[in-house]
This record gives sequence, structure tokens and C-alpha cells, in this order.
Amino acid sequence: MKIEFSKEKHIFSITTENLAYYFSITNKGILKHLYFGEYIESIDDELISDIGFDWAKTYFDKNELKEKEYDDNFYHDRSFLEIGTHGLKDNRPSSFEIEVNGNNKVDFRYVNHRIYKGKPMLNGLPHFKGDEKDSLTLEITLKDVVKNIYLELSYTVIEGIDCVLRNSKIINKEKECKVERAMSLTLDLPSDQYNLISFPGDWSNERNINKDKISFGMKRISSKFGRSGHEQNPFMILEKSEDLIGFLPSYIGISFVYSGNFVEEVSVDKNKTTRVNIGINDEDFSFTLKENEEFVLPEALLVYSSSFDGLTQNIHDLIRDHLIDRNHLDTQDKILLNSWEACYMDFDTEKVIKYINEAKKLNVGLFVLDDGWFGTRNNDLCSLGDWYINEGKINLRKVVDECHKNNMKFGIWYEPEMINPDSDLFRKHPEFIVGDISKYDLGLSRHQLVLDFSNPVVVDNIFNQMCSLLDKYDVDYIKWDHNRCLYDAYSSYLGYENIGKFFHENIKGVYSLLARLKERYPNILFEGCASGGGRFDLGMLYYTPQIWTSDETDPVQRMFIQYSTSLIYPLCTMGSHISKNPITNYLTKGNVALFGTFGYEFDPLKINEEERKEVIISSENYLKHHKLIKNGDLYHLYSPFDTNFMCMEVVSKDKKEAIVLFTNLIKVRNTYRMLKLKGLDDNKLYRNSYNNKVLKGYLYKNVGINLTRWFDEFSSLLIYLEEVNDEN
Ligand code: DGJ
Repeated sequence: MKIEFSKEKHIFSITTENLAYYFSITNKGILKHLYFGEYIESIDDELISDIGFDWAKTYFDKNELKEKEYDDNFYHDRSFLEIGTHGLKDNRPSSFEIEVNGNNKVDFRYVNHRIYKGKPMLNGLPHFKGDEKDSLTLEITLKDVVKNIYLELSYTVIEGIDCVLRNSKIINKEKECKVERAMSLTLDLPSDQYNLISFPGDWSNERNINKDKISFGMKRISSKFGRSGHEQNPFMILEKSEDLIGFLPSYIGISFVYSGNFVEEVSVDKNKTTRVNIGINDEDFSFTLKENEEFVLPEALLVYSSSFDGLTQNIHDLIRDHLIDRNHLDTQDKILLNSWEACYMDFDTEKVIKYINEAKKLNVGLFVLDDGWFGTRNNDLCSLGDWYINEGKINLRKVVDECHKNNMKFGIWYEPEMINPDSDLFRKHPEFIVGDISKYDLGLSRHQLVLDFSNPVVVDNIFNQMCSLLDKYDVDYIKWDHNRCLYDAYSSYLGYENIGKFFHENIKGVYSLLARLKERYPNILFEGCASGGGRFDLGMLYYTPQIWTSDETDPVQRMFIQYSTSLIYPLCTMGSHISKNPITNYLTKGNVALFGTFGYEFDPLKINEEERKEVIISSENYLKHHKLIKNGDLYHLYSPFDTNFMCMEVVSKDKKEAIVLFTNLIKVRNTYRMLKLKGLDDNKLYRNSYNNKVLKGYLYKNVGINLTRWFDEFSSLLIYLEEVNDEN
């Protein structure tokens, strides 16, 4: 990786092994984008910047009152830019709008730059981690041509990964300014020949794969729910596929490290070029800054590869090695039993202790007591906000001791951001809620309201309540749930004058609580959840290294959800459990759950002998293969969205072993079928557990494993390959 600045050409070059990013500073201090894509050693501005519209090259000089020409091949409204703003006579969707005395145009020009080892760490916002040994940053300071407002832009590269991380900070030196729009990333691309892949969905149907050819106009994908949401995911992929004539394939992954309201815009203009923006959703957003105050934007990332698998692997490496906390592997690697689908809220101490004892026989190493242990909660009508133990229902001390006595860890469920109107907390502090109850009826969802986490007093209250339990009990794991969207965005703490700050301050409040708890209880592993996978994003992953992927535990539906989720998020982050859902046998359920964090979501006392045997086989597979599955390179071989199969393969980084999950949907007969594998070393010998044959890697790649056979509905195969020294 390298970051360089050419003093003669005024060109910045940011390169990794397979990626190059070039932009220049014009004589007028404008940052002109030149190139992003496959590695090239150098670039010549002349080669690409001539856009041929002479009338877009001139401007009327305010001092001399005469027409003048931009130099450096700059064309307003047409040049490719690092920051596109209307103030710069660029009418494409802008990167920034910042208002001072009614004027919201900005036009940022270069002031200075520095290149340093390491990367910016954001205070109060989640971010990728990098240090002097593995990362390099270019930081550029710009200033608006009129306003006393500065912008600090930075570009970071990380050793071994084809990605560029982008950070920005607005620094206000005016008496007051209002940030109305602030994109974490703008990328101009000199083509409209892309497919946009996004991940829309719904509750229990998260992250479908949506692929559209982009065309004139704008595609805007956003969340306004106060969380990233089931409905969309803040991750998009631009695909320049082989079938789009005349281009080599290339894939660009774009996302940002944020869990609140976001927007992704992909727009194609009259010039048939594409602009991509990603950032905090500018609807319902405006952020007033007083003199000397700063606004730090969430971190954005650009990942590049010439293949889809390469893109996935780059993203996974980046998340695994630089985002998520891997200090709790002893807990993460345990097999988890969660009480939710076993008994919902219908439990007592005796029942839970029976679960723990039975779970031990199924290789469980972490027992999680889900919803229903606090306040007076036996259904979802009450008690959110009252985080004290329902002593009449559960003897937590006994439960925790029983776990530890059995060499099992103990986990517990919380939904810290929520409150039921029927709770002591609401009766005492009705002002803690989100929404203006003095003027409007409030929208309930699952009978609950949302706590106003933009108010530090509210965050303190929940922190203190949680601490009073966590200080006393030896808790190893917390499932952090969030079961509704935010509608009535209003905070009595911020008031209407600051209403535009609410969503951002609210999510920062969530991050602050997570950070404080993680600091005080460094041994606790947090798992995120939002009615399943409604907040599966890089922001939450920073604090909660695994997230419950979906409330849908039907293994066939999970084949889809986990396939698509794993295109962008690593398997080690994806909560996946075997449930009692009867659609397949326990072996298929087990195989699907293996390609994730693995655990159980059923009553261990209520499975029959055959089911028990199958669960034990899966648990043993997990114990044997989880390091490979969670840490290897993932290949997506068959998509259930396009074929009758779902097939994924994980190859260890040293290419010594691999594991393949092959499942089918409807029944298939003995049609000829060869399963070709990827990622193995061409010349190494591997024995496969399907037919016990020993073959060289290139044969698995070019010829494949013969799977010509009958497959019943929803059956599955797990094939393990191991390097061997000779053919016997
Ligand atoms: C929604 C989660 O996704 C479930 O797993 C469970 O924890 C319930 N909430 C509990 O209310």
C-alpha cells in the first residue's frame, strides 16, 4: 500500500495491491477525481479529464467582472469530483450543504495536506481500527471560499486489503452554521454501465438481493426509522459485469459505519456518468454548530475487487481484522442455547435449570436467558425499562451458578432503548420517551415506546440500572435487542429548535451506552439484535461482534437470508441457530446453522432420540470446523435466489482445508451434476469426505465433485476437504 503526492502534477495516488485511487488538485484548489478501480501504476490527467464541453469551462469572475476560463480541465457540472457541491456549480446530488445566514452553498478548496502512518479513530462513533504498522492516511484540509468553515477529509488504506476508508470532519469557525447535508462519501464514476446490488427486505425476510441496471436519474435507498432497518441495508455493491459489453468485470462495495438513518444515492446524469453518495440521511436532519464546534461524519468505506468472491473476502477480512472485537472468542466459540423459542416468556427457575442440565448433553457452552426475566414481564405488554429481576419468577443467582457449575457461560437479554407505558420507569419519567406526548398521540409498536437516548440523563439511568445487575451477577454475554422503529421523532431534551439533531444524537447515545458497558465489563460478549436482523450494520458490529441474523429460523428461509447476508458480512458475525421448525430434519438445520455462529433455539427436553442424535452430529461438526468456517475465505457457489441450490465453500487461509455446504430446495433427480470448487491450491492433493477421493486442487476446480444423485426436498451435504500428502 502507498499514498503519494506528485508535486509536479498535483496528483494524489492511493494504491493497494489491486486497487488504485487517483485525484488531483486544480490550480484553483478543487479536488478533481481521476480514477478509482483496478490497480494502475500511474495516471495522466490529460487522458481522462477532457470532457469536451467548452461552455462549461468558463466562469464570470466576481472581481474583474469578466469571463474567464477554469484551467486544469475543470468543467462545472461535469468534472469528476471528490466533493461535489452546488456552490461549486455542480448540480449533481451534493456532498455538503451548510447554511450560514440563509446561504447553504459551500465550495471547499484545498488548504494543505499531510500523509501519516495510522488512521483516525473517531470519538463517540464506531470506526475501523488501524495503527502505525498497518495503515496509512492522507488528510486534506479544505476551506470554503466564502465561509469560515473548514473540512478535513481523509483517506486511509489498510495493509493487505483492497479498500479505502473515508473520514470527514466539518470545523465551524463562523458564529453559527447549520449542517443540512453531509455525505460521508461521494464517488464519481466515468460510466453508467453498472448494476446496483442492494439488500432490501422486511422482518423475517432480511437482505434479499436486488440487482438493477442503473440508468438515467436517481436511485435513492434510505432508512428513516432511527435504525438501519430490515427494509434496507447500508451496504451497496456496484457491479460492472462481464455481460455489460466491453468492460472487464469489477465490483465496488460501498458502505459506512453507522446504524442510524442513512441514505445511499446512485445517480446517472446527462453525461452518462455516475455519482454515488452515502451518508446520514438528510431528511429530518440538520445540525447546528456553534463557533469552534466540529461535526464528525461516520466513516465510509470503498472496497474493490475484480471478482465478487474477491470483494466478499476483502470486506470480510476488513470487518474481521479491523472492526469487530475479537476479545471474546472463548464465549463466541461456545455453542449457545437461547431460551426464546424454547419457552418464550413462560419459564421459572426449575424449568431453566432443567434446560441447562439437558443442554450440557448437547455440547452447549453458553446458556442465554431471553426476554421475560425482569419487572413483572410475562408478556410483551409491560416492564421494558424496569431492569430489575422478577424475583417471584426467577432466581437468577441459582441459574447463573448452575451454568457455571456445569462449566457453561451465562447470558441474558436486554432491550435497553425501549420502554413500555406500563412500567415503573414510564410512570416516574414520562419525559424520557421519544415523541411529543403533549401534542400528539404516539405510535406504539409491540406495545412499546422508545427511550430518548439523545438525552444523557436517560442513558445514565439505563446504564445505572444495568450496572446494578451486572455488578452482582457474573454475566458473560448480553443479547441487545431493539424491537421497533422510531416514528415520533421528538426529544423533550433537545426541543423543537434542535429537532434535526435528534436521530444522530439518539444513535450516538446508543453507541455511548454500549461503549460504557464494554469498558466496565470487558469480559461480556454482546450480540446485537433488532427483531432479528433489523440493525445488521457495521456500526453495531463495532460494539456487538455478532448479530442475530433474523427472527426467521425456518432453515430453508435461512438458506436465502444467510446466503445474501454473507455476501457482505462475515459468517462469524451472523447469529444462526437450529430451531424446532419442522420443515427439514435436524441435520439440514444443523448444516445451515453451522455457516454462522451456531446455537440452539429449541426446548432441549422436547426433542426425540433421532433428533438428538442429529443435533449432536451437528454440534460435533461445529466443534471440529468452526475455526475454519469463521475465519476462512468464503466462496458463494450456488445462489438459492437464482438456482435450486444453495452452496457455499470456505477455504482456510493456508489452503490446507475447506468445507462445503450444499443444499437444495425442491427435490431433484439424478441429473448430471458436477460441483466445481474454488480457492484450493491447484497442485495440492485434497481428500474429500463425500466420496473419500483424493484429487488435486485443479481437478476440484475444473472438473468438480460428482453429485449426480437424488436429493429430497431441503436436503443438505457437508463436505470437508483436507490436504493430504499422497493419494492413499
Ligand atoms: C426479538 C428477537 O429477535 C428474538 O430473538 C427475541 O429475543 C425476542 N425479540 C424477545 O422479545
